[in-house]
Amino acid sequence: MKIAVVGTGYVGLVSGACFAEMGVDVTCIDINEEKIVALKKGKIPIYEPGLTTIVNRNIDAGRLHFSTDLTACIDSVDVVFSAVGTPPDEDGSADLQYVLAVARQFGQTIKKHTILVTKSTVPVGTAKKVKEAIQIELDKRGETIEFDVASNPEFLKEGDAIKDFMTPDRVVVGIDSDRAKLTMSRLYKQFMLSSDRMIFTDIPSAEMIKYANNSMLATRISFMNDIANLCEIVGADVNMVRKGIGSDSRIGNKFLYAGCGYGGSCFPKDVKALIQTANSVGYDMKVLRAVEEVNENQKGILFNKIDKHYNGELKGKVVALWGLSFKPETDDMREAPSLTLIDRLLKAGCEVRVYDPISMDECRRKIGDQVTYCKDMYEAALDADTLMLVTEWKEFRIPSLSILKKVMNDKVIIDGRNIYDKDEVAEMGFTYYKIG
Ligand SMILES: NC(=O)c1ccc[n+]([C@@H]2O[C@H](COP(=O)([O-])OP(=O)(O)OC[C@H]3O[C@@H](n4cnc5c(N)ncnc54)[C@H](O)[C@@H]3O)[C@@H](O)[C@H]2O)c1
Repeated sequence: MKIAVVGTGYVGLVSGACFAEMGVDVTCIDINEEKIVALKKGKIPIYEPGLTTIVNRNIDAGRLHFSTDLTACIDSVDVVFSAVGTPPDEDGSADLQYVLAVARQFGQTIKKHTILVTKSTVPVGTAKKVKEAIQIELDKRGETIEFDVASNPEFLKEGDAIKDFMTPDRVVVGIDSDRAKLTMSRLYKQFMLSSDRMIFTDIPSAEMIKYANNSMLATRISFMNDIANLCEIVGADVNMVRKGIGSDSRIGNKFLYAGCGYGGSCFPKDVKALIQTANSVGYDMKVLRAVEEVNENQKGILFNKIDKHYNGELKGKVVALWGLSFKPETDDMREAPSLTLIDRLLKAGCEVRVYDPISMDECRRKIGDQVTYCKDMYEAALDADTLMLVTEWKEFRIPSLSILKKVMNDKVIIDGRNIYDKDEVAEMGFTYYKIG
């Protein structure tokens, strides 16, 4: 089978490379010429473990191609996946300009029956708009060409994207024709050999599933952050509480970690967009509004802790930050809690020294040279008064406390991910704060 994937970001590039890995002939399209030039040479513009190997293997095998133009391959493909961005609009709703641009281009170029599958996260009702946009273009051309649209939301996690795509928990496909169902079944069959995990739904339900999914995960995080904050006040330990409730099989132990708030390219925008979808039909998503509010507060929690420790006298303090990306194993800093923290520390007059194994360039692109970029975790801690763990990369998990003791001034550690043993850290003479 031959397919095209439009948009070569985290979702499009991973999807394209993984389909190629399964033997599908894939052309990945992006309007960003620089990206396509780099990709043709096997240079991957994002950090995603394992992706470079798969991309290069499939380029070499002649199954993975890159282009800036959908017309280059439209004659030969059966399916076009749209994996372009859906950033938040000013009011928080999903901005569909890129999705609709792809739909128009699809309508302008198809010559035979082709399926346009939306992989981007889009609100309920988008497929209808996509269909209309395609039909308008076909009408302009005076052509009668059959086409289908389908919704195939993506659930991969950055940092684990290849595994998630190759062995998905499930594949959700919203369809309104048997033809589309058959093609999508054929395409995904090889990913389902151990058990059939395909879930076919109507299109609006597929669109809703993605938002409900991310909103549920964000809700768990905000719930645990709320519990953590209460634990601190009443003298309980949220790590113990997490183990206690996570062992209830009705709850499960995933996504119950307290921390400094959720970030990334998906949860913040998807929660906002679902609230906005509800608003547009006169329904109030009360739970999700609270989830957002708790998260906004939580992003300030590390700053509040350092501010309290120094009684508001932060001017001139040297603060080391370990971790910048919104979670480990990605370079993605969209809506990362580190950005909120850096902003507040700088405004309070602190000197900020940062280290992240992968996201230093991304951070420089976002905030420039307002902070000191250090070559490793201990250089970041040099002469620091306080060390703040923001992203729990593996290399931060068992630090040498004796080196830290030697290089730091005030010996304060604020653990934004609850990964250190408070007794061990305290025994070494550090003042230690965690979340909850
Ligand atoms: N990042 C994730 O972890 C993740 C997971 C699941 C779902 N999603 C959803 O998938 C979608 C894509 O997310 P992403 O993180 O991969 O986005 P991204 O911003 O990393 O990539 C989008 C790409 O689309 C390209 N593009 C935009 N308009 C185009 C056009 N008309 N033609 C060709 N290319 C075009 C951009 O140049 C960019 O390279 C979003 O809707 C997102 O919510 C993301």
